[in-house]
Amino acid sequence: MCGIAGVTGASDALQYLIDSLFRLEYRGYDSAGIALQTSDGIWRVRAATGTTSIKSVKKLADELGYPVAAGIGHTRWATHGRPSEDNAHPHLDCSGRIAVVHNGIIENHVLLSDELAAEGHELTSETDTEVVAHLIEDGMADGLSLTGAVRRCLERIRGHYALVVISSDEPELLVAARSVSPLVAGISKGMATLASDIPALLSHATEIFALEDGQLAEVWPGKLVVSSLAGDTVLPRSLQVNWTLEEAKREGFEDYMAKEMHEQPRAISDTLLGRMSPQGRIILDETRFDDDELREVEKVFVVACGSSYHAGLVAKYALEHWARLPVEIDIASEFRYRDPVLDSRTLVVGVSQSGETLDTLMAMREAAYWNSKLLVITNVVDSSMAREAHGVLYTRAGPEIGVAATKTHLTQMIALELLALYLAQLRGTLYPAEVAALIEQLNALPEKVQHVLEEESAVKEVALSVASVRDFFFIGRHVGFPVALEGALKLKEISYLRAEGYPAGELKHGPIALIEPGTVVVAVATRTRLWDKLMANIAEVKARGATVIAVANYGDQETAEAVDQVLWVPETNPLFAPVVDVVPLQLLAYHLAKAHGHDVDHPRNLAKTVTVE
Ligand code: F6R
Repeated sequence: MCGIAGVTGASDALQYLIDSLFRLEYRGYDSAGIALQTSDGIWRVRAATGTTSIKSVKKLADELGYPVAAGIGHTRWATHGRPSEDNAHPHLDCSGRIAVVHNGIIENHVLLSDELAAEGHELTSETDTEVVAHLIEDGMADGLSLTGAVRRCLERIRGHYALVVISSDEPELLVAARSVSPLVAGISKGMATLASDIPALLSHATEIFALEDGQLAEVWPGKLVVSSLAGDTVLPRSLQVNWTLEEAKREGFEDYMAKEMHEQPRAISDTLLGRMSPQGRIILDETRFDDDELREVEKVFVVACGSSYHAGLVAKYALEHWARLPVEIDIASEFRYRDPVLDSRTLVVGVSQSGETLDTLMAMREAAYWNSKLLVITNVVDSSMAREAHGVLYTRAGPEIGVAATKTHLTQMIALELLALYLAQLRGTLYPAEVAALIEQLNALPEKVQHVLEEESAVKEVALSVASVRDFFFIGRHVGFPVALEGALKLKEISYLRAEGYPAGELKHGPIALIEPGTVVVAVATRTRLWDKLMANIAEVKARGATVIAVANYGDQETAEAVDQVLWVPETNPLFAPVVDVVPLQLLAYHLAKAHGHDVDHPRNLAKTVTVE
């Protein structure tokens, strides 16, 4: 999730690119950079000064001293390689005549960079992007035009990308290509622009076009030509955009939380990318652990807070079932005060979207003191936990701006499921064919989550029907229990309504005393292991007058007949079900909060990153 911008035919390309990058800052800003087409070839400046990166780039670039017409720019959210000047985009080829900016993930970059290095190319960054510049360099050295060389490069790379490339051989031309990651082009008189997102283009373009997957664009001042990868010219899709800048940053959604919930299918597929081989094996080379170290593990502890803790609870079921490892899961703020029994054969997994939560960081330090192996699952490259852990598995949700965790929570569950399957593969507790079958089901999750998001208006109707209720219970069993906890947390934090999450079998041991006519019970009733027992628990609360809303699988009439309202979801493997089942609960919380008139992006009393104990 980076912001990219390109321009040709501008009166002052530097100023245009800087303005565009500021408009794209919500895509991340751990570093930034610009490459300009000057009379002496490509001139590149980069900076990795965090929130001031774009300002630093502007200051450095001003030293050029004269305006130029074309260039590209980038504001980065690190996925491969820590935030540093060397890893900041644009990346250059060996000759410095080609510059590339990229948003996305190039899955086969390790293989390609080994190959390029063996041929004598000098790669200077840890990024997945740099290989693109060198592959294009090879193409142009073979006599291809910039466009021809980009086309040949696209045949070699696999993954998700939005790319914009310039070469000093054709200074007026920008070449762009798209696979999954978004890319838009803007045309106005004598000028043309490219960007990852509409906000970058809003000020200058009179016409805006969206590139589709598998399309390549050639952009000259005032002119856009789009073709397929095979080289056939195609008509670009024109976009009618009447958004304000703020609306454009949210891609037309009312708030960031809505946008981020709708980004979940893409966030899941980005998190899966490159971590499964076509032969049906899990590949987690990037964790920095070698397999022998992981084979030594006898026990796993998961430590986390809030929504990350709920993702950790799901992991307990997956790790115990598939990898046959005993797992303890702890609220990070309690962990180090209870004298946990840790040693070098213990794997401690810290789960934290920010990678900075003090409670989780301190829990990991406690584990480090006892020589445990530390793995962190985080969304922020080079965060404190990522630096201190022995191994890291990054979620690739991109920046999350809404305070309530949505896409980071789903991608944490995905990363943890991958870890569980990897350990099962390593320990031989699953047959290769079983791992391959589970991988197929993992790959189907983005589409299933998409189906749930498409049911949003039905969820909104359910939310509105209970908008006057103040007391909610969320119940579930087995993996439905962490989903119930997460559903209750989402509702509490953004709508300020009372919501309790409970394992359904526990109700009869006390909480059922609170159930009375008018109480709403939300039951996670998809067909996971203890569905029939959960139905008995639903009958208990119905008998006491509760209104029951169930999350149920499409077509499950038996569940529908036992409850008052249904939030429908597609069926999946029971241990993957939380990834799908939690989505209608996010939507329910969202629409209840909106019905009460709350600002869902900035809930009261909460902060996105909690660095106090
Ligand atoms: C809930 C939420 C919080 C965080 C918790 C941990 O929507 O966002 O409960 O999950 O503060 O934060 P991280 O994951 O950054 O450690």
